[in-house]
Amino acid sequence: MYQFDREAYNRKMEWFVHDRFGMFIHWGIYAIPSRGEWVRSTERLTVEEYQPYFDEFNPIDYDPKVWAKAAKDAGMKYAVLTAKHHDGFCLFDSKLTDYKATNTPAGRDLVREYLDAFRAEGIKVGLYYSIIDWHHPDFPHYGDKQHPMRSNEAYKDYKYNFDNYLEYMHGQVEELCRDYGKIDIFWFDFSYDDMRGEKWQATKLVRMIRSYLPDVIIDNRLEVSGDGFGSIVTDTPTEYSGDFVSPEQIIPPAGILDEKGRPVVWEACITMNNHWGHCAADKNFKNSEMLIKKLVECVSKGGNLLLNVGPDARGVIPEESMEILAGIGRWMKKNSASIYGCGTAGIDKPEYGRITRKGKKLYYHVTEPLVGFVPLTGVSADDVKKIRLLATGTELKIERNWITGNYPDVVFVSLGDKPELPDPVDTVIEVELK
Ligand code: GLC
Repeated sequence: MYQFDREAYNRKMEWFVHDRFGMFIHWGIYAIPSRGEWVRSTERLTVEEYQPYFDEFNPIDYDPKVWAKAAKDAGMKYAVLTAKHHDGFCLFDSKLTDYKATNTPAGRDLVREYLDAFRAEGIKVGLYYSIIDWHHPDFPHYGDKQHPMRSNEAYKDYKYNFDNYLEYMHGQVEELCRDYGKIDIFWFDFSYDDMRGEKWQATKLVRMIRSYLPDVIIDNRLEVSGDGFGSIVTDTPTEYSGDFVSPEQIIPPAGILDEKGRPVVWEACITMNNHWGHCAADKNFKNSEMLIKKLVECVSKGGNLLLNVGPDARGVIPEESMEILAGIGRWMKKNSASIYGCGTAGIDKPEYGRITRKGKKLYYHVTEPLVGFVPLTGVSADDVKKIRLLATGTELKIERNWITGNYPDVVFVSLGDKPELPDPVDTVIEVELK
């Protein structure tokens, strides 16, 4: 009988909870049509209609060292690359299929190169693996929720052997666990309708994975998808519950707690524009200023941010994304102490921003200019050892005068005489307690 070992789990999750910020990378032959990674499903393309993209795929500018440096400079501590997405195309040299990058004009094991490059930058490496496979002959077609042939009458009586598919899927996951060195994160995607849990033979799958990678961190999508949290929020998680909740395109209104009120590890996965895979027409990019605040919001609520990039068909991360990463990196270079190893502060959110905490250090993120002094709520002057402007190390003294006199229990500091904030995006005040 499986018994969830909470102590061992907490130890395993320490680095993930500390690192807070990762790069999601959605890449594959769908970058050629460049209408998102679901293009086969949304446009109901047959295998034959999709084949030209396989035949053409040759990312001549693919250099994962460039990707890894961009992630590192942005302050990202881990990364997750799609080894196989729902279209079934494998970016790795699987021995179980011909539908792989090494059989395209690319002729390369794109996953192995990614792993080498990101490890070389000291970034922990994850692989996204779709348990859905619209290319495999033994995956449900007609009547499925999203298969490209779900309403194609020609497939009404199509016969498939799901056990064959499970043997293939488990076999590929074993290849990734066994043949590519230490993988730090397995990011499965996704369960739906009755396609969840033991339908995937999830217990057998997870036991196999952990036999190769005992400390690997797994998401919760062998049980759910972006909707639902799964059994990890119960007091008796299943053996395949995964290790974190994966809210998608949303930051939870508050931290996520389990049924006993204990904080649950969660990671919000969010796109820079509105697509995971490359979509040339989608120029709706969130700017770096907004995404810095979203990263702070995640950490202030005890969560991680997995921020996505969708490289193009030549293997290049779009310029807009690179500029966003650089902007985040400039802020992180000065303020990452308020992110790494931080979490909820146990203090109500101030009107002007958010608060993150790491032990005796509180980080007040001021994102809204104030009239006059900044109230550092939740602490008393007697408890304060020192206050600094994080970005410069400048001392900030507690302000006591006729203006603050009416609020003797509130610690106030000044950010100077200008109406603008020292850092207009997010000025961080570090308060160290005695
Ligand atoms: C959804 C999408 C999938 C994407 C994933 C990222 O499951 O279907 O395309 O990879 O979200 O979280």
